[in-house]
Amino acid sequence: MADATLVDLLITGGTVVNETGGFQADVACHEGCIVFVGDPRFAPRARETLDAKGRFVIPGAIDVHTHIREPGMTQKEDWSTGTRAAAAGGVTTILDMPNTHPPTWSLPALEEKRAAAARQAHVNYGLYGLLDERCLDQLAALAGAGVIGFKLFLGNTTGNLPAPDDGAVLEGFETIAALGLRCSIHAENSPMLFWREKRMKAAGRDDAFAHLAARTDVVALEALSRSIVLSEWTGCRIHIVHESCARSVPVIRDAKRRGVPMTVETCPQYLLLAAEDLTGDAGRIARLNPPIRERWHQDGLIEALADGTIDAIATDHAPHALDEKNLPSFWDNACGFPGVETSMRLMLTLVDRGRLTLEQYVRAASAAPARAFGLYPRKGVVQPGADADLAIVDPRAEGVITGSSLHSIRSRFTPFEGMRTVGAPVATVVRGRVVMRDGRVADCPGWGQQERPQMAPPAPRNLATTTAAILRPEARPFS
Ligand code: DOR
Ligand code: ZN
Repeated sequence: MADATLVDLLITGGTVVNETGGFQADVACHEGCIVFVGDPRFAPRARETLDAKGRFVIPGAIDVHTHIREPGMTQKEDWSTGTRAAAAGGVTTILDMPNTHPPTWSLPALEEKRAAAARQAHVNYGLYGLLDERCLDQLAALAGAGVIGFKLFLGNTTGNLPAPDDGAVLEGFETIAALGLRCSIHAENSPMLFWREKRMKAAGRDDAFAHLAARTDVVALEALSRSIVLSEWTGCRIHIVHESCARSVPVIRDAKRRGVPMTVETCPQYLLLAAEDLTGDAGRIARLNPPIRERWHQDGLIEALADGTIDAIATDHAPHALDEKNLPSFWDNACGFPGVETSMRLMLTLVDRGRLTLEQYVRAASAAPARAFGLYPRKGVVQPGADADLAIVDPRAEGVITGSSLHSIRSRFTPFEGMRTVGAPVATVVRGRVVMRDGRVADCPGWGQQERPQMAPPAPRNLATTTAAILRPEARPFS
């Protein structure tokens, strides 16, 4: 018979590291929550213990940018493989993007995805709804059904969702501002990149550098700037995904100083890979949107992550079947690659190299994402009362990244192939259950739970001139 005085799990001998600092403590988990963080002499007894001597106990990573592909594209990934990969990588919550088939733009589409996730998820998940001009009338219903936020594709990518008309974006932001949720934005200018692509194709260009050239810095800067203007005007909370461009950093810094309600993420590929190294086949695997830029961008992005101008580290986990990455024309090759499993190792390697502190990594990987999407302080911090979502990290674990070992079994390739890493998650705890230990993922489909956001009260701006307001017959611009 179960002893009622025992808690579910006790993590002993480790150093707890939050964004604010580290300290020696045992951590007890019970019924999905952290119930004790403190001196081992006062720790409760537990049914299961995990030895964390010489290791760090950090809040599990929250990856706010993943593409799990189900429904509709399970030749690339499904909710089982994708969340197993997350568990392997120390990631305890993923937010899933809406560019699936069908796109997550209606209640039935959301329900189809939710059901697939609920059956298979090994880690917790939030589901994005789509902001598209064809579904503006669905935003409120999707919010009511618990989407974690919305996603707007200003730049073209997998799924070929057309960038909405700017008028529709403005109206969408007005609606989302009133709902209080956050809208994540793929900030590239579609007309510009299509135009440049067309010109280069006509000139016979077909190579990795041409992809970068089509989407050169100004393509990102224009869309970032437009997003900021519309966020500032409407009060819509925005999140810029996969910031790749060091030239964006002063623009972001300036906007934040003015109080624009924005957060920003970057991804390991923009910090560790450089276009100069990505010729030939390496360029095919590494092709993604926005592209990996010239090496000089890396330092500016890393420094912006360290000082908090860039809030979060995410992955843009974008699995594809290998044959979709190996088409004869570079322009036809699928964009993206898996990332959720390798991010923590890569980022810990930057910590080992002294480019970030572990506290800064914890802020970027967990606390800041939790704050941005209404999950803090339930998540993002190791403290009593928080969800028992944890990663246990061995800062000295050395390894080499290999695509063949990935849990994304239909997408076993990575642009980090052969890269040496220092530091790795050795255990992942989701809601108090050990879902990964020493690289082995426990079989626990359905253990992951859906996360719904608890945002601060909405703060919409310029309400007198919203699209809804000017439709009223009595509307006057000067009243
Ligand atoms: O390269 C990319 N692939 N960039 C994105 O933004 C989306 C992603 C995908 O869904 O494949
Ligand atoms: Zn993406």
